[in-house]
Amino acid sequence: MAKPRSVYVCQSCGQEHHKWQGKCGGCGEWNKLVEEIRGGDSGGGGNPSPSKSSGGYGAEGGDDIQKMADVESGQADRLSTDISELDRVLGGGLVPGGVVLLGGDPGIGKSTLSLQVAAILASQGRDIIYISGEESLQQLKLRAERLAVDPSEIRVICETSMERVDQLLRREEPDLAIVDSIQTITTEELTSSPGSVAQLKEVTGTLTQLAKGLEIPTLLIGHVTKDGAIAGPKVLEHMVDTVLYFEGQSGVDHRVLRAVKNRYGSTNEIGVFTMTGDGLEEVVNPSAMFLEERPAGASGSAVVPVVEGTRPLLVEVQGLVSQTEYGPPQVTAVGVDQNRVVLLLNIIEKRTGLKVAGHDVFVNVAGGMRVSEPAADLAIAMAILSSYIDRPVPKESVVFGEVGLTGEVRAVSKAGDRLREAANLGFDSATLPRGNADGVSSRDDSEEGPAMEADALDYCRNLAHAIRTLFGDDVLS
Ligand code: TYD
Ligand code: MG
Repeated sequence: MAKPRSVYVCQSCGQEHHKWQGKCGGCGEWNKLVEEIRGGDSGGGGNPSPSKSSGGYGAEGGDDIQKMADVESGQADRLSTDISELDRVLGGGLVPGGVVLLGGDPGIGKSTLSLQVAAILASQGRDIIYISGEESLQQLKLRAERLAVDPSEIRVICETSMERVDQLLRREEPDLAIVDSIQTITTEELTSSPGSVAQLKEVTGTLTQLAKGLEIPTLLIGHVTKDGAIAGPKVLEHMVDTVLYFEGQSGVDHRVLRAVKNRYGSTNEIGVFTMTGDGLEEVVNPSAMFLEERPAGASGSAVVPVVEGTRPLLVEVQGLVSQTEYGPPQVTAVGVDQNRVVLLLNIIEKRTGLKVAGHDVFVNVAGGMRVSEPAADLAIAMAILSSYIDRPVPKESVVFGEVGLTGEVRAVSKAGDRLREAANLGFDSATLPRGNADGVSSRDDSEEGPAMEADALDYCRNLAHAIRTLFGDDVLS
């Protein structure tokens, strides 16, 4: 038997180190390394036992080679949750044997959403088992009673032992298993502490095998943690089929559910919810919600139709530029990548000759949304410039396009969908990339929904062109 040895595992990214160090060599985070004992007689301590990890999901023999045509896709068996925002993010519903990881900050609403799903499915006569390792049955009951849906048919159990969960699932074979949270379940096979990377990986591996073998859709809840005591769901992303993150800001009631990985659907798909007194409610028209408090006629605001997954969504980008009074100039970005803002500022400076340097620049996406699409570049640039020259972007106008390093405005995908969503919400003009001109006109005729008048579309080749279109010719003299 191998001699026991210590490895130091980062609880944030899972990277292993031979000796302790303050900063993880993988993700660069501090104080996340935790010692784990590998090998020796302790029963492993770290590595999942090979006997369990090998073999296929098919239960009867792993070497049953089949023709692709004979494999059942299971597409027809999707289990709809009846929450359309969630179904869309899942790619149409839960899949038999599919393992979904639902991650998010503590208190964001993961247990609430899971309990709602469980209640809906249970009231339709499905057998749902909710395994709680975190809250007592009384706490669960109290929460369930607040919800608008009837939770009385859900079966609940408080359990933290992987071995007993294993027996339970094999015995009961429910229609859906929910594990809240994955960080609380531990296996006796490993000596490492509950919530460590090794435990988390082993437990998730076992649950995944169970789910596939018994064809049970499984929902695993994982806390995103700021301190190093328990490992985060990031280390599990490669092991599960679907990874959803629940995002939100403190003080804001709405929550965005985002698919970052989905073997059964498209990624970047989002669902929008609001947290109310009786659970989470779907937001049917998120664009309207994100634009609700947009100030009329104020400078420093631009509306951009972004596409998240398959759905276009309007968000307001705000910019504020003010002369730096103290210390070096600052760039602050909320909801967009700060480096992208710095890049755009440099492009503006270099390609249009406007002197934004020497100013503090703030960019914010209203309503706590996060935007990562390059198609928002032009709107970010225009929000900043609108504040800088103190002229508003026309109120009924949307702006989109990617901005390149030479200041060119580049074509983006799904221009027709973006315009349609904008038109649906009452916007009647748009500033968009020249490169999208052909795509838009040819697609607009065939698809549903009101599109904008052709003469309300201003196609731009570059930043300077967009600035003249939106703010007038005299800005760049
Ligand atoms: P919870 O689902 O427990 O979060 P998580 O499982 O992600 O840690 O959500 C807890 C928060 O939600 C808590 O602050 C109270 C709030 N809440 C409501 O506002 N309304 C409700 O109906 C429920 C059940 C919770
Ligand atoms: Mg919870």
